[in-house]
Amino acid sequence: MKPLSAKIGAVAPSATIAISDKAKKMQREGIDVISLSIGEPDFDTPRHIKDACIDALNRGETHYAPSNGIPELLSAISEKINRDNHVPCTPQQVIVACGAKDAIYEAMEAVLNPGDETILLTPAWVSYEPCVQIAGGTVVKHAVNQKSFQLDDSILERVNAKTKMIVVNSPSNPSGAVFDKSSINLVADLCQDNDIYAMSDEIYETLVYGKEHISLASLGNMAERTITINGFSKSYAMTGWRLGYAVAPVGIIKAMSKVQQHSISQATTFAMWGGVAALRGDQRCVEEMRKEFDRRRKYIIAELNRMGYQTAPADGAFYAFVKVAGDDMEIANRWLEKAHVAVTPGSAFDAPGWLRLSYAASMDRLKEAISRIRRVG
Ligand SMILES: Cc1ncc(COP(=O)(O)O)c(C=O)c1O
Repeated sequence: MKPLSAKIGAVAPSATIAISDKAKKMQREGIDVISLSIGEPDFDTPRHIKDACIDALNRGETHYAPSNGIPELLSAISEKINRDNHVPCTPQQVIVACGAKDAIYEAMEAVLNPGDETILLTPAWVSYEPCVQIAGGTVVKHAVNQKSFQLDDSILERVNAKTKMIVVNSPSNPSGAVFDKSSINLVADLCQDNDIYAMSDEIYETLVYGKEHISLASLGNMAERTITINGFSKSYAMTGWRLGYAVAPVGIIKAMSKVQQHSISQATTFAMWGGVAALRGDQRCVEEMRKEFDRRRKYIIAELNRMGYQTAPADGAFYAFVKVAGDDMEIANRWLEKAHVAVTPGSAFDAPGWLRLSYAASMDRLKEAISRIRRVG
């Protein structure tokens, strides 16, 4: 038989799979495993959003829609981006995709040529590197400061004539860090001085705790070279709806649109009506979920620190990022086997020596997880 795609063969399997498969096997065997490895809100999608989708289904919104998205959602997104993110945006600068992940993939395909370098700031979310690779680009990794989780001038050493794009993810999965103005400004200057595109993944923008979220595209002339990624999964607890979007200059949107037209065609028509309700409806649900995450965050960080663990500044998203002494894969394994608590090893995010604990679990489960971890150490 002829060999399969070398490009896909080069993509590494996720470092999280072994642990999560083991956790699932234990659960199937009837063991009460507490999963702190999940990257999704444990809340239900708010009622008014579900109702808007059900109404759309009942109205017969069950057919193909314009590939880039229904006009109502494109308008709602462009209004939100102007209003909340202070980024100039018309509906022509928006594309709705099947989740932020799909928008990220399409953007990489649209921008990168073989050999083009993309700077990833580590620790980095697991899918950026494979998306760059599948698009034919080359990944250049740069570790952020491991105490402040901010950027400094050393990032400039990663830039050369082949650098095409930099990916920024603030608030960050996995570290929970939120870039302050100086880090964001550094990225903006670097892009503008060296003619580099930026991808700003702002999927966790509403989950910040006492810190300001700054949209990269709102700075200087950055809107002309930034692809802003966002979606509904985290802010509105809509992970299963597979609804996300990108905002970018029209040329990039047109290129992404070609990828979309010949792959997924469009996001699901009735799901997009849920997206309209999410953006145009009452935003109190977003604040209620944020407050609950904040309560859990304070609890888990305080407990981990009391146990002597150093944690990254947990200013955003819903992750505690914990420094461990020793091999993170081995410790994650031990916690799973001995404490029946599933966490994600930092190695999955190019951050060996760290563990990611998601606090998207109920307070009772978090309390139980902490007491089990305390027992096994
Ligand atoms: C940083 C980051 N970007 C993008 C995504 C993808 O989100 P979506 O569910 O909209 O595809 C995730 C989901 O875990 C994420 O953590």
